Amino acid sequence: MRKVSKTILVTGGAGYIGSHVCIALLDAGLDVVVVDNLSNSNKASLERVQSICGRSLVFRHADIRNEEVIYDILRACGVTAVIHLAGLKAVGDSNVRPMTYYENNVLGTMRLVSAMKRAKVKTLVFSSSATVYGIPRYLPLDEKHPLGPTNPYGRTKLFIEEMLKDLYRSDDDWRIGNLRYFNPVGAHESGLVGEDPLGVPNNLLPFVAQVAIGRREKLLIWGNDYDTPDGTGIRDFIHVVDLASGHLSALRHLRQPGVLTVNLGTGNGSSVLEVIRTFEAVSGRSVPYEIGARRAGDVAICYADPTLAKQALCWKSTRSLKQMCADHWRWQLQNPNGYPGTELKVRGVVQACLPSRLSVRS
Ligand code: NAD
Ligand code: UFG
Repeated sequence: MRKVSKTILVTGGAGYIGSHVCIALLDAGLDVVVVDNLSNSNKASLERVQSICGRSLVFRHADIRNEEVIYDILRACGVTAVIHLAGLKAVGDSNVRPMTYYENNVLGTMRLVSAMKRAKVKTLVFSSSATVYGIPRYLPLDEKHPLGPTNPYGRTKLFIEEMLKDLYRSDDDWRIGNLRYFNPVGAHESGLVGEDPLGVPNNLLPFVAQVAIGRREKLLIWGNDYDTPDGTGIRDFIHVVDLASGHLSALRHLRQPGVLTVNLGTGNGSSVLEVIRTFEAVSGRSVPYEIGARRAGDVAICYADPTLAKQALCWKSTRSLKQMCADHWRWQLQNPNGYPGTELKVRGVVQACLPSRLSVRS
């Protein structure tokens, strides 16, 4: 019997979540094409993805806003579905440069969808975010919770979700999955692929890991006067490998046309202090911290109701906070300065100057 080929385009595939999604897809026997402009990533991640999986993928250094290039890639590679992760994601930065976020995230998605339409590729999994809910009115957050993001980044996610719903209303051949991620952390168990933020990390786990390894002196906890058991913020941390497998489940369950909007979270909340203690226990290192003022825009508690994902995608997370911290630590320990070349990129040395050991076709 002829094997039906399934080739998945992963936009933003060189990034933190994207590299783990590529592993999940390759491990499942699918073919992978990555499009990434490397604005917040390092193509060394893809070299490592291939060595973990023992399979190759196709890499195209391109921008999703370039519709013609994306169209050519879709056609030339025989792409059957797209997992769309490319985007800018820093909440604070989005307040400073809102138009850059709208241009990159919203316009970028419009161009991508336009190219897909022309190429007759009508299956799309989109990386949305729990940030679309804004300030929780009740917990846990289910998909029916009112929407009201409090920053431009969150609004780009909400506008894209709405745009994709309109797209389906206009053409009911589309299969669309809007995945609302909670707080992805951790790394692949090999320690070869993980989160490699450029400059000072915005998020908790990478900051904690850099303190533990000695790259930073101490963590600043943004507020310990919240209405939570220990006063620090509570989040739904989810292992990035679990999150990645949710994309595979979404592809499998997008067999019928329609739009499915679903939370990807664990359903459990952990406080900032719990994370620090767990990280200290698994790493054997201390994580000094200081209590600072609340960060503008932060909510006290945020965690998912993951019921719909279980019902509609047959997916649930399986990894504990301890495993998230242990895997994040292994990545940090094996790569104290991130991927080779990231340091130079932070200092503004052009990437073209870096020696390339990349075996992916680009
Ligand atoms: P990341 O920055 O590591 O990955 C995003 C990738 O997209 C990067 O490799 C970047 O170079 C690429 N990219 C950005 N703009 C592009 C463009 N115009 N054309 C081509 N490539 C482009 O971020 P991540 O944490 O892996 O997040 C992936 C997606 O998930 C993002 O859309 C983000 O908004 C969303 N998300 C992330 C989180 C989180 O906490 N990490 C939470 C919710 C949602
Ligand atoms: N925190 C600190 N110090 C730090 C960093 C974070 O105390 O240096 C605290 C925050 O105040 C918060 C918790 O750790 O209480 C988690 O903060 P993160 O920045 O790691 O995560 P957020 O929940 O603020 O936001 C993340 C992503 C968003 C995404 C959201 C989805 O950054 O893009 O999760 O829930 F939308």
